[in-house]
Amino acid sequence: MLDKINNLLSEITSFSIKDQEDLEAFRLKYLSKKGLIADLFEDFRNVPAAEKKDIGQKLNLLKQKALERYNVLKTELQTAQDTLAINDLTRPAYPWFLGSRHPISIIRNEIIEIFERIGFTVSEGPEIEDDDHVFTKLNFAPEHPARDMQDTFYISRISAEDSSPDDILLRTHTSSVQVRVMQHQKPPIRTISPGRVFRNEAISARAHCIFHQVEGLYIDENVSFADLKQTLLFFAREMYGKKTEIRLRPSYFPFTEPSGEMDVSCTICGGKGCNVCKYTGWLEVLGCGMVHPAVLEACNIDSRKYTGFAFGMGIERPAMLKYQVNDLRLYFENDIRFLDQFKTAF
Ligand code: DAH
Repeated sequence: MLDKINNLLSEITSFSIKDQEDLEAFRLKYLSKKGLIADLFEDFRNVPAAEKKDIGQKLNLLKQKALERYNVLKTELQTAQDTLAINDLTRPAYPWFLGSRHPISIIRNEIIEIFERIGFTVSEGPEIEDDDHVFTKLNFAPEHPARDMQDTFYISRISAEDSSPDDILLRTHTSSVQVRVMQHQKPPIRTISPGRVFRNEAISARAHCIFHQVEGLYIDENVSFADLKQTLLFFAREMYGKKTEIRLRPSYFPFTEPSGEMDVSCTICGGKGCNVCKYTGWLEVLGCGMVHPAVLEACNIDSRKYTGFAFGMGIERPAMLKYQVNDLRLYFENDIRFLDQFKTAF
């Protein structure tokens, strides 16, 4: 009996394992009810009374050692598994808490992506501009109401009575980027200019003093109104769905002639009439036209050789339609509860 105990003791102390299965084998072999140690306890009954005390102590010690060994092996296995997991190069380093994109950025990126597919580049200009780029070179007459203090945030104005091309202001539209592009590039020009614009408006659910626009400009030889219409139709169907219809209405902008405004069939009711389109079936989305020859000339582009079209659209409204946002102010408050709702959109 003593020999058996000693043999088992040395077996147990040198027992090593590779995995969970080996650990379980150890438990079954030594510690389970039908294991070797339990057998020895069975045999213990037959041990002569004189030896019972000594052998009993040794047997208890063996059981204790086996339990200890089991726990050691178990811990070692766990640590090895943890280390393996740490060394797994495919595991993310730590959980990434991704932010969400601002809805305005999502729509802006969508618009950019559509025009990039048909060869438009992206250009940008400063938000703090001069009168020359925002108004004068875009053919705004000196007394045009858009230059008025009520609309434009002036930073410095040379004369209190009259505006001057050197006045510094916050741009009221991204059309100013057209001028910068035409001044620095030769046709063919195909570009869109997303950006932030500023107008002195009272802030409400439907109006804000800061908003976003995307401007488009295409200049080359023989560019016609048909090119404008086809480009806008392509854009409208990519942006609002394959079944979208467009409608062009005559309008006026100083920098385009002829000028138009484009409506798309209502994205909510599909043109049947609902309260979003005020039962007209149409939504107004952008202004457009053929670039006025005076604008081309002001930017040193030969208006007898080149023609072009331009368009400009707001970003807030399509974003409101897409995400059913009913208050413009939400876009600028940066309330995390609002922004968090755009988590899955990239
Ligand atoms: N700049 C105009 C606005 O802010 C929008 C616009 C209309 C831009 C017609 C254009 C255009 O390029 O051709 O209301």
